[in-house]
Amino acid sequence: MKNILITGGAGFIGSNFINYILDKRDDYNIVNIDKLTYAGNLENLIPSQNKKNYKFIHGDIINTELINYLFEKYELQYVINFAAESHVDRSILSSKEFVVTNVLGTNCILDVARKYKVKKFLQVSTDEVYGSLGKDGLFTEKTPLSPNSPYSSSKASADMLAIANYHTYELPMVITRCSNNYGPYQFPEKLIPLMIINSIHDKKLPVYGNGKNVRDWIFVTDHCQAIELAFEKGINGEVYNVGASTEMENIEIVKLILNYLKKSESLIEYVTDRLGHDRRYAIDSSKISNTLGWEPKYSFEDAIIKTIDWYLSNKDWWNRIITGEYLQYYQKQYKN
Ligand code: NAD
Ligand code: TYD
Repeated sequence: MKNILITGGAGFIGSNFINYILDKRDDYNIVNIDKLTYAGNLENLIPSQNKKNYKFIHGDIINTELINYLFEKYELQYVINFAAESHVDRSILSSKEFVVTNVLGTNCILDVARKYKVKKFLQVSTDEVYGSLGKDGLFTEKTPLSPNSPYSSSKASADMLAIANYHTYELPMVITRCSNNYGPYQFPEKLIPLMIINSIHDKKLPVYGNGKNVRDWIFVTDHCQAIELAFEKGINGEVYNVGASTEMENIEIVKLILNYLKKSESLIEYVTDRLGHDRRYAIDSSKISNTLGWEPKYSFEDAIIKTIDWYLSNKDWWNRIITGEYLQYYQKQYKN
């Protein structure tokens, strides 16, 4: 059995990963520590919550004492670090929490992981650390880090601390840098769920700038598979880019959603552009394909429909989030 500390496992990708991995394998004991910020939601973990090899801990990754205690109590040998403040717009409004969780929090987990001589530390990172591309080219693992937003700067800092731990102390560490994810359980502040939910409500769809910014989309389960592979087989000290070669302009996605939901394009509202808005992200994932044999399994055409249908069938999930009911309930239940 592998005793694994997963951080941020109540968020979008972390919860998809836990549900995916516990469904698939029985050689993982998972301890999930999550602060349950606005983005954390224990309902995402209903498929896993009663499994005997799953344990939830309400806590902050910056709490060194708690992390030490968890390593002792659960004899943890591995870490997959998902926990982060993840939304660019929020980081533009205020960067402090991004530095606290993404930089100091990651540093804390790295310190304790090193002390307990973990066998593998996987840092879940993002293609946004590379900055922005022009019309041509792709991010490779050799592209210099050039983050532009407070979010991506904090993630780049975390990556550098993880790399420093590998070089200085030989901490067995790998980094994955993935492109934009979509799928079930994504918090409705991100482009795709926000546009789906606004369309359902006949509310305006706020498209930043001219809508021509490009993102490279991947279905969340494909990302989870890449993380599993990098965790199991990744070479220590290496970075693996992950992406599904699906570049889309934002406006194309917005129109596709409206079209599928049979809503009028007059709902589109072009609004003031995001400050410092990165123009284009696009990932070269040939390294993880060629060295670890990873390939995305979901096509955008199918997985976007699967995603829209998921939001249509799970109105209770996002209604509770929108109305804030969920947060009040769980914060009361899990306080200390
Ligand atoms: P998310 O915002 O949905 O979830 C983050 C989770 O971390 C939440 O459950 C939150 O409660 C928890 N958390 C935040 N601060 C914490 C703290 N101090 N201690 C413990 N838990 C804390 O984010 P996500 O989209 O699931 O992203 C997960 C990871 O993947 C992040 O590291 C992000 O940078 C990275 N990533 C995301 C994308 C994407 O498209 N969403 C793409 C590439 C990489
Ligand atoms: P987002 O989902 O916030 O992801 P990221 O900024 O990490 O790529 O945004 C994806 C793209 O959609 C980005 O170019 C900004 C744009 N966007 C809008 O046009 N309107 C919106 O309301 C949001 C949230 C994003």
